[in-house]
Amino acid sequence: MTHTQPRVRISVVGCGYLGAVHAAAMAHLGHEVIGIDTDEQRIASLSSGVAPFFEPGLDDLLTETLASGRLRFTTDPRSLADTQVHFVCVGTPQREDSEAADLSYLAAAIATLAEHAAPGSLIVGKSTVPVGTAAGLVADLADSRPDLGLVWNPEFLREGFAVRDTLQPDRLVYGLQEGAEGARHRQQIDEVYAALLDDTQVVVTDLATAELVKVAANSFLAMKISFINAMAQLCDATGGDVVDLADALGHDTRIGRRFLGAGIGFGGGCLPKDIKAFRHRAEEIGASLASGLINEVEQINLAQRDEVVQRVSAWFDGDVRDRRIAVLGAAFKPDSDDIRESPALQIAARLAAAGAEVRVTDPQALPVARSRGPQSLSYVDSLDTCLDGAEAVLLLTEWSEYRALDPHLAGRAVAERRIFDGRLALDPDKWASAGWHYVSVGRVDRAPR
Ligand code: UDX
Repeated sequence: MTHTQPRVRISVVGCGYLGAVHAAAMAHLGHEVIGIDTDEQRIASLSSGVAPFFEPGLDDLLTETLASGRLRFTTDPRSLADTQVHFVCVGTPQREDSEAADLSYLAAAIATLAEHAAPGSLIVGKSTVPVGTAAGLVADLADSRPDLGLVWNPEFLREGFAVRDTLQPDRLVYGLQEGAEGARHRQQIDEVYAALLDDTQVVVTDLATAELVKVAANSFLAMKISFINAMAQLCDATGGDVVDLADALGHDTRIGRRFLGAGIGFGGGCLPKDIKAFRHRAEEIGASLASGLINEVEQINLAQRDEVVQRVSAWFDGDVRDRRIAVLGAAFKPDSDDIRESPALQIAARLAAAGAEVRVTDPQALPVARSRGPQSLSYVDSLDTCLDGAEAVLLLTEWSEYRALDPHLAGRAVAERRIFDGRLALDPDKWASAGWHYVSVGRVDRAPR
């Protein structure tokens, strides 16, 4: 089936990570898009074609769509009056006083829309919210703007693959209101995604389920990672190898290999926050089985960090004071400059707190780490400087250049050949043959050969 590709006038409210990518992607599909945000600096940067964060491919997409004239950015909410579909992409960070999601940005966005949106236009929620939020918004709008429709359409994009995930999503989820109204909204949202529909599964459901899909997906991914980390502990106790185990499990198509990467655990702006908010909501609702499950997932994740600190300390008989430690990787994962909840930086900071002299390098995240990361660490631009004189090297974010490190070359720079492979990214035998002590999680240690 071929779909005609209508040009829809779209606004994207909130131009952070999600919104900036979504706005550029929608303009790339041929729509006329206006990105709206209250942050003037962010709007100025995006208007000049520069994303205020590192995301492969996004600057090119911004440049292309800005040049086409189909994409603009503004701080002026009056532009909402000229658009037919409004994507709400504001952040829902953790509240300061609890683990609940802070919905104040969402409330502000909806209030702005209620004031300025064109009659009969459609609000499409993309932010990650606790289940029940959308129903509350429908009830509020029934008082202030009954002409506005609401669809919940969660976003699953991954940092580092955000452009691809938006333009070639695994699935689209539409949470619709009941009856004729919902059917009409579906037509409107189908027009927006027309270019993707031939190749994309669409799941049509109610508002609550659509909200749940997002948090359930992130909880499941977190659970998968914690599962394999728990298996790593079993491998450590029994001489097994967690990488072989994950490979073998992964061949079972019911399980799949992805997100069975054992190591120092998960971080970032989404998984840790989303599972906390999910647990909080589950507790509010009285869903104790779900909250208990999330507790375990989180405990295992945090325990991995303790384990690393212990293993590295063991090299120095438990006392890392004045030991020079090189940490490769600051970002919470490769191909990102995001350091939020970065397991790498948390481990590095704990070693520094115990008295070690810790140098950290990263291909992209150093500017962010220098301004917002732990100040107890020295951030160094070059890998050579980081390795120079190190008594232990910790690979904590598996950037491709670290995976490809030559153990002979690296061996010449360091004072002691000790490598902790926190992401199971290296070949243990190759490193041992080059004279290194190789230690990781879920794998038998290798002595130098
Ligand atoms: C995640 C979800 O994948 C995405 O669908 C959602 O929209 C936002 O949250 P992201 O935070 O970009 O995306 O990172 P992701 O690739 O999921 O990785 C999260 C963390 O898990 C990283 O710290 C990564 O290093 C870690 N991880 C991932 C593992 O420890 N093992 C794995 O096998 C996979």
